[in-house]
Amino acid sequence: MELAIADSFAHLQKTDIANAIRFPRFTGTEKDRRAGAAWLSRRLGQEPEADRIVLANGSQAILTMLMARYVKPGGILLTEALTYPAIKPLSAMFDIRLHGVAIDDEGIVPDSLDEECRRLHGKASALYCMPTLHNPTSATMSDGRRRDIAKIARRHDLAIFEDDIYGVLPTDAPPPLATYAPERSWYFVGLSKSLASQLRVAYVLAPSRALGEGAFWPGVRTTNWMVAPLVAEIASHWVLTGLANDILQSVRVETEERKRLAVSRLPTASIHPENLNYHLWLDLPEHASLTDFVMSARQAGVIVGAGDSFAVNNDGGDRKFRIGLGVPADQHSLVDGLDAIASLFSVKG
Ligand SMILES: Cc1ncc(COP(=O)(O)O)c(C=O)c1O
Repeated sequence: MELAIADSFAHLQKTDIANAIRFPRFTGTEKDRRAGAAWLSRRLGQEPEADRIVLANGSQAILTMLMARYVKPGGILLTEALTYPAIKPLSAMFDIRLHGVAIDDEGIVPDSLDEECRRLHGKASALYCMPTLHNPTSATMSDGRRRDIAKIARRHDLAIFEDDIYGVLPTDAPPPLATYAPERSWYFVGLSKSLASQLRVAYVLAPSRALGEGAFWPGVRTTNWMVAPLVAEIASHWVLTGLANDILQSVRVETEERKRLAVSRLPTASIHPENLNYHLWLDLPEHASLTDFVMSARQAGVIVGAGDSFAVNNDGGDRKFRIGLGVPADQHSLVDGLDAIASLFSVKG
């Protein structure tokens, strides 16, 4: 990372910074979008048309724009029964109602999605989902599951907001859902989990250039969703010079090592291998209540995600908690945190 930063400053010195920061970069420059196409091609299998790509100030900014345009106040957004917690305050901002759809170890259950759409008589206009390394369970949809979900989305005319922020971490994940239903998919990949958490760049691939421009243009009248020019310059430089690839490789190695540390420090009974990835989705100790456990962890200096914060109107997270392995600054702090959690398992309530 230090090398990449030194290299970025050297690159910026050769760039016309005054010009770069004078004008907004709505949707990114042509070079930014080419870099986006190159980055997304790792998952899509080929480079998408660069003019379908928009750069934004992170995945949350993309979601804000998509919710406002495709769901609207009073509308319904479908999500996995357990979902990325930020969806809740974001949807509340727009007075959008969330309906959770049942999940299993491959993510969304097709029959449940179909049933929920029928029950809602066309009132649900979009589905937000994480088909690869779902947050928090790490579930990944198989090829067959993606095909089924795409078919149902088409049957009920759902727009798909596919969040693939973790999808570049594994080397063998199936292609995005967007490749099964490109005509209705808004496929987005933030760089915060694979390159740098606060670089604040995400790429969204729109179903078509016209739809992309319609949803994200002109940015100045809405929220500050646009990518910051200097930051875009760095991200494009990283992707186009291969630095991004080097950083991703080191994140993969570090993630594997952190998983190994987690397995060696936590009580084995609490770990289900399928829920072990960038996140750990763990059962609470039998004797603990969720609130007490989260508070005790905090008192021991560790912030864990309370399972119920992921749940959309159901009790699927009531006996669960989540650890983010990527959060501690180094392995030493990770081990301290894991040991603190492990010691909470041996305390009887
Ligand atoms: C599933 C998911 N999507 C998006 C984000 C945040 O993305 P960004 O930093 O690009 O706004 C997170 C962060 O935890 C996440 O878990």
